[in-house]
Amino acid sequence: MASRVIPVDPFDLIIFGGTGDLARRKIIPSLYRRYLAGQLPDEARIIGAARSDFDTAEYQDFTRKAVEDYVHEKMHDGDQIREFIKLFRYYKIDAIGHEGWEDLAKIMRKNMVQAFYFSVGPGLFGELAKRLHKYKIAGDDARIVVEKPFGHDLKTAKKLNKVLAEYFDESQIYRIDHYLGKETVQNLMAVRFANILFEPLWNAQYVDHIQITVAETVGVGGRGGYYDKSGAMRDMVQNHLMQLLCLIAMEPPAHFDPDAVRDEKLKVIRALNPVADKDIVRGQYRADGDEQSYVDDAEDPNSKTESFLAMKVQISNWRWNGTPFYLRTGKRLRARKSEIAVVFKDPPHSIFEPQDNRRCNELIIHLQPNEGMDLRVTIKEPGPGGMRLMDVPLDMSFAETLGEDADDIPDAYERLIMDVIRGNQTLFMRGDEVEAAWRWVDPIIEEWQGKGDVPKAYDAGSSGPEDALMLMHRAGRRWREIAE
Ligand code: BG6
Repeated sequence: MASRVIPVDPFDLIIFGGTGDLARRKIIPSLYRRYLAGQLPDEARIIGAARSDFDTAEYQDFTRKAVEDYVHEKMHDGDQIREFIKLFRYYKIDAIGHEGWEDLAKIMRKNMVQAFYFSVGPGLFGELAKRLHKYKIAGDDARIVVEKPFGHDLKTAKKLNKVLAEYFDESQIYRIDHYLGKETVQNLMAVRFANILFEPLWNAQYVDHIQITVAETVGVGGRGGYYDKSGAMRDMVQNHLMQLLCLIAMEPPAHFDPDAVRDEKLKVIRALNPVADKDIVRGQYRADGDEQSYVDDAEDPNSKTESFLAMKVQISNWRWNGTPFYLRTGKRLRARKSEIAVVFKDPPHSIFEPQDNRRCNELIIHLQPNEGMDLRVTIKEPGPGGMRLMDVPLDMSFAETLGEDADDIPDAYERLIMDVIRGNQTLFMRGDEVEAAWRWVDPIIEEWQGKGDVPKAYDAGSSGPEDALMLMHRAGRRWREIAE
């Protein structure tokens, strides 16, 4: 099914950190895919700005390589790539000095959408914002885009919010959590709020528990320096898993507009209970055959940082009181698999013989790989032999349903960058949301640090530490398997 593409207004997109990893792996490839889809207007201009001594021709070359390296081969088209890279220019900029800013000011087009992507460390956000203001580069309607990590804790997040607020209104600030741009994550809202089917059951009366799993096979090698200061809590739970939890748990917003949606998400975060120590399992992968251990990857033999986290979380409000949310994420696990499972309760009374292998109804939302959903329902096993029951999935794999190749499902960044240009903040985090998430996370981390908590070791390629299984077993529940 061909997707409908609505071209965006002409824009100037300035990528600070334009020669960095994020630009190469995500931003430029996403723009190329949108270009191929016909969404970028001819007047669009993309300006790489960084410290490197590139000129525009060299930057266009960098852009072409980024496309060749990070866009699926079947989308490589020499003519299209040649035209695409013409949209790019390069300015050498000193983020903490004065070089390059006046030149940039001269070429900005005031009557166009202006977006400034801060693809740099958070330490530079304030410097960039200040200079955009000082050199009168950013117009009143300009947008700035910032990436996670948005702070290291509540204090630093507040400081970042404050520094940005000196120069930009909240309506101009786009804080990216790329999980919100994933196709299935948005579908979560469609499934909940565009159907009558699920919402009446979407509460503690009918939902036994919810599992959110983001499992990765990669380790932290190559980025150990950053990761070791973050751990799974700061790197994944405070943002990505928190956002998934919010979308699953929030009340229906009155409108599908940025503040209505974000108000409801904020209420969820504020209703989270503090988490008891017994409801958290931290893990760290150990060496396995040729594979390095976490401490080898992090280059600190004494590191106590967690590469795995499982926790039971409760939300204190009318809808969810009594329904636990189990969150689990980790590196170097058995498979790359992210999913949300809404596990419903058993019917109040069964008229059939008890069956050993019966499971409850489950709605499983697969985020990756193989984006889609399936709903597990119980039916009668076909054939004679009495009323034997079996579970079958009602499968809605997006690739099959939409007739799309899995590679054709847009990358999260494609949607998010286009939303910035369109001026739609619905899928971006608001400042108060980020702060509320840190307010909940900080005491948990402080407690670990206070008592010198040591994470449990787990084998690379496993499902995480045994204790994580126990977290569920204690309550007579079990995790869904982490498997391809
Ligand atoms: C990033 C984290 O935000 O998300 C990484 O910093 C993690 O540690 C990544 O690997 C996961 O993203 P995705 O889209 O591959 O699930």
